[in-house]
Amino acid sequence: MTVSSAPGKVYLFGEHAVVYGEPAVPCAIERRARVTAEKRSDGKLLVHAEDLSLDGFTVEYSGESETHPDVDVSESLLEAAMGYVDAAVAQARDAADAPDAGFEVTIESDIPLGAGLGSSAAVTVAGIDAATRELGVELAPEELADRAYRAEYEVQDGQASRADTFCSAMGGAVRVEGDDCRRIDAPDIPFVIGFDGGAGDTGKLVAGVRELREEYGFAADTVGTIGDIVSEGERVLAAAENPDGDWIAELGDLMDFNHGLLESLGVSSRSLDAMVWAARDAGAYGAKLTGAGGGGCIVALDETEETETALKFTPGCEEAFRAELATEGVRRE
Ligand code: PMV
Repeated sequence: MTVSSAPGKVYLFGEHAVVYGEPAVPCAIERRARVTAEKRSDGKLLVHAEDLSLDGFTVEYSGESETHPDVDVSESLLEAAMGYVDAAVAQARDAADAPDAGFEVTIESDIPLGAGLGSSAAVTVAGIDAATRELGVELAPEELADRAYRAEYEVQDGQASRADTFCSAMGGAVRVEGDDCRRIDAPDIPFVIGFDGGAGDTGKLVAGVRELREEYGFAADTVGTIGDIVSEGERVLAAAENPDGDWIAELGDLMDFNHGLLESLGVSSRSLDAMVWAARDAGAYGAKLTGAGGGGCIVALDETEETETALKFTPGCEEAFRAELATEGVRRE
C-alpha cells in the first residue's frame, strides 16, 4: 500500500490571461489531497472517494468508460472524479510499463472541488505518484507534473494549462508561461480564503473571455495588462527579502487590480465580489477571485484574524480559512 499527498493552490496572479501565453503565479497551499494505491492482481480498478467536500462514494468497475457504476451521486460529478482517477492510473501504468496493473485507490481531500483551488490537479498528481510508487517506480516531480498535465489535458478536452499540476507537484510559488514552468522564491504569504460553496464552469468562463478578447481590442489589452500585473508581482516577490519594502501591501494592491480586470472580463460573480469587498473592508491588503471564477473561492492577504472573521459573517460565504503556503509539493505519506 502506498500513500501520497499533493497540495491545492491559489492563483496569486494571472488566471485566464495564462491561457493566452501571459505569465501566471500560482502558489501551493497547505490543503491536500491524499491518495492511497494498493495493487490488485485482477487488473481492475476499485475507487473509494471520501471527504471530497461532496458525497463520498465507492465504485468498482473495470475501467471501461461505458460501464457506469450504480451509485447515488450526480453523473457529471462521478464522471469527472472517475475521469481523473482513470487518467492518473493510465499514466502510472505507462510510466511503470505495467499496462495490466490493477489498483484499489482511496482518495481523501480537504480541497473543495471545482472551486479554483486545484483539487483535480492535486488528486491527479498524488494519484500518479502513489500508483507508480506502488509499482516500484519513482518519478521526479517534473515528470510527475508533466504526466499529470497530460492526464488533465485529456480529461478536460485540451482545456488545461500546466499551472495547477506543476504547482501541485512542485509546491511553493511557481511561474508559468506557456510550457515554461519554474519554481520562484517567495516569502510566507498570509493567505486567507473565502469559499461560496459553489463552482464555476471553467470551460464556459474561458470561452467567454476568448469571445470578448476576439471581439474587442480593449479586452485583448485587458488580458495583456493582467500579464503586466503578473510581471510586477514577480518583482515584488523577488524583493520581499528587503526589510525596507512593504511587499505585502504591494502584492495586495496588485491583487486588487487583477481582480478588477477579471471582473471586467466577466468572470467574477456577486458572491465572489461580496467576499472580495468584505475582505478589503476588514483591512486585508488586497483580495481577488482565484481560478476560473463564476463562483468558488477568493484569496485575500491578511496577517490578522480580521479577514477570516469578516468572511465568516459575509452572506454568501460558506467557509473561510487561513492557508499557509505549502513549500512541499507532492510527498509520500
Ligand atoms: O479554476 P481552476 O483552478 O481550474 O483554474 C482555471 C484557470 C484558468 O486560467 C481560467 C484556465 C487554465 O487552465 O489556466
